[in-house]
Amino acid sequence: MSQAFLSATGMRGGYGKADILNGCDLIVDPGQIAVIVGPNGAGKSTAMKAVFGMVSLREGTVLLDGQDIAALSPQDRVRRGMGFVPQLGNVFPTMTVEENLEMGAFIRSDDFRATLEQVYHLFPAIAGKRRQNAGELSGGQRQQVAVGRALMTRPKLLMLDEPTAGVSPIVMDELFDRIIEIARTGISILMVEQNARQALEIADIGYVLVQGANRYTGTGAELMADAEVRRTFLGG
Ligand SMILES: Nc1ncnc2c1ncn2[C@@H]1O[C@H](COP(=O)(O)OP(=O)(O)O)[C@@H](O)[C@H]1O
Ligand SMILES: [Mg+2]
Repeated sequence: MSQAFLSATGMRGGYGKADILNGCDLIVDPGQIAVIVGPNGAGKSTAMKAVFGMVSLREGTVLLDGQDIAALSPQDRVRRGMGFVPQLGNVFPTMTVEENLEMGAFIRSDDFRATLEQVYHLFPAIAGKRRQNAGELSGGQRQQVAVGRALMTRPKLLMLDEPTAGVSPIVMDELFDRIIEIARTGISILMVEQNARQALEIADIGYVLVQGANRYTGTGAELMADAEVRRTFLGG
């Protein structure tokens, strides 16, 4: 039996009076890679923020490891095992790589150097740049810093909003390989991706979100084999 690690169901809410999320469900099992795809403005980032507690829900429940976390602040959700890499502004550009990673460990009072070395082991390209400002790095390296920063709290659920935005196909493949490696350690991944085809290839489960609701759900392979999904969302 496998209990979902994240179970966000019936999410309704948004920023003002009008709901952006219209009954959205996101379920992720332990160690799974779950991918959210869908058109611009569908509410993908809003759904991620709602799961993380940055958008308040009018309806719906968010369970993490079976516990209702709806009342918790984002910071308390980090303490419970969530790591979040937002779509925008996910590094401090005028701080060094290492300072960015240290900031990621803000909730920890123990020695986090071993985790720091694990992050550098996972992303050797930024290990050689630990004293450089994050703002001087390439887009792909900045995303590595952002993911590394989230890993510093040793999350059980890593949430990534468009981690490959603006990077080359080679860098994208490389980052997806690292994400697979992270998932193999037992960490659940919930990821929004605009590179839908490539992301669904590595997805255990895929959610196609349209107007704040689940339009299609299936394994990555199922969604890629679905003629309607392909025609509408994957460009044929
Ligand atoms: N901070 C905000 N305040 C008000 N409306 C917002 C805000 N952020 C996003 N929206 C609106 O919510 C809708 C969904 O946005 P978003 O979740 O960013 O979509 P996606 O990530 O799927 O592209 C859009 O109509 C967008 O204009
Ligand atoms: Mg978005």
